[in-house]
Amino acid sequence: MPPFPRHTLSATWLLALLAGCGGGSSATGEAIASAQDATVTASAAAVRPPRPPAPAPAAVPTLAAVGDRLFEDTRLSASGKLACASCHVPTQGHADAAGGFLPLGGLDGTRQGLRSSPSVRYLDQAGAFRFDAQGRPHGGLFWDGRADTRVQQARGPLFNADEMANADVTSLATRLRALPYAADLRAAAGLPAAATDDQLVDAAVTAIARYQADDTKFHAFTSKFDAVQDGRATFTAQEQRGLAAFNDPQRGNCASCHDSRPAPGLGRALFTNFSYHALGVPRNKSQATGNPAFFDLGLCGPQRRDLAGRQDLCGLFRTPSLRNVALTAPYFHNASFASLEDVVAFYATRDIDPTRWYPVVNGQVQRYNDLPPALRTNVHHGAPFRRDGQPPAITPQDAADIVAFLRTLSDGYSAAPSAP
Ligand code: HEC
Ligand code: HEC
Repeated sequence: MPPFPRHTLSATWLLALLAGCGGGSSATGEAIASAQDATVTASAAAVRPPRPPAPAPAAVPTLAAVGDRLFEDTRLSASGKLACASCHVPTQGHADAAGGFLPLGGLDGTRQGLRSSPSVRYLDQAGAFRFDAQGRPHGGLFWDGRADTRVQQARGPLFNADEMANADVTSLATRLRALPYAADLRAAAGLPAAATDDQLVDAAVTAIARYQADDTKFHAFTSKFDAVQDGRATFTAQEQRGLAAFNDPQRGNCASCHDSRPAPGLGRALFTNFSYHALGVPRNKSQATGNPAFFDLGLCGPQRRDLAGRQDLCGLFRTPSLRNVALTAPYFHNASFASLEDVVAFYATRDIDPTRWYPVVNGQVQRYNDLPPALRTNVHHGAPFRRDGQPPAITPQDAADIVAFLRTLSDGYSAAPSAP
């Protein structure tokens, strides 16, 4: 894709010509003078004393630049209060604010969604949702992989009644037309002033997707981990032990899902292989779970419906990247944990000390209580999970070390300033 659509290139060329002749320097394509005006201006200039050169015309913004503004703009929501950036906060690894809560949205900002808002970084390699040769699910966007591309994804929150709550394409298009930079959106997308509702909405979601795909902050690879890989920094002894425990199949075994090796063709680790698992995380309090009959079953619904018949996939959610994980609390799809220490302790003792994680009712511990009893057999039991009575695969020292290691995955690391 060339940096500018063809028609805007010629508009820029014409504007440059006019500016060179002391003519107008309007930035918008609509204000371009006709060829006849250009001739008049040129001959007038010949008899006038030379004027200082007019400023160069502003370039047509790229779709990604407009997407940046749209991502931050609360005017895209029905409440006027929610932007993409409200739930994907730039200073928090583009995930939601800390705490144990699920995000609020909707028309009046009081509706709680089902799931924690994940970081929107490091998704480029997720690919479309698919089953591999062994029939295992992989990839896709969202916790349940229901969007194949970022363009498809961006429509979700814009029209979700619990999120930005636009009633339909027409109401979103009306909001887009009212933006002070509506002309920039049209110019960047090569649309005429009379663009239809559908064209405008398509342009907006494409711009938002392009911004996330193009802007380096969504795939910066500037963590301490990357600096160590590049030989520009060294881990502390504890971080080094943490990485070893993270990788060790006999201890954390974290890397079996949160892959710490460089991804093929990328040369950088993503800390996910985009696989799906049911970890049996505890139920969290929310508007939805106030109804004891409600369960978020991930791959088999309710947000996606195409796999509703696949009982074997109920309760499975996509493995998230752990890049920036120190910034992206709360954790797990249902925001059931507020700290990394608790997450790692959960992996260590879920089945050894279940009363620490699940309620006890009539003397019975309610293991995996965020799944209906019949589906609890889907819960993953491989390492690092251990059975009752076994020693934990992850010792308290390993756990502290793993957390220290996870803190090296935040972008924006700079080595200690060198001595003056
Ligand atoms: C009210 C909070 C909220 C708003 C506003 C919001 N999101 Fe999200 N976002 C979420 C939640 C919650 C999820 C996870 C939903 C799920 O998995 O079903 C999510 C998921 C995503 C994902 C997928 C991440 C992954 O790991 O696959 C992307 C990308 C994303 N949002 C981008 C956006 C964009 C772009 C906008 C603005 C158009 C936006 N979000 C607005 C809460 C929000
Ligand atoms: C069998 C695959 C698998 C293994 C092994 C595994 N994870 Fe995970 N991890 C997942 C999946 C799947 C999720 C999301 C589950 C959910 O939300 O229901 C997850 C979620 C997480 C989260 C929450 C991230 C977020 O953004 O909410 C953290 C932190 C985490 N894992 C760390 C670890 C650590 C540390 C280890 C090793 C001790 C580990 N994981 C081992 C698959 C795995």
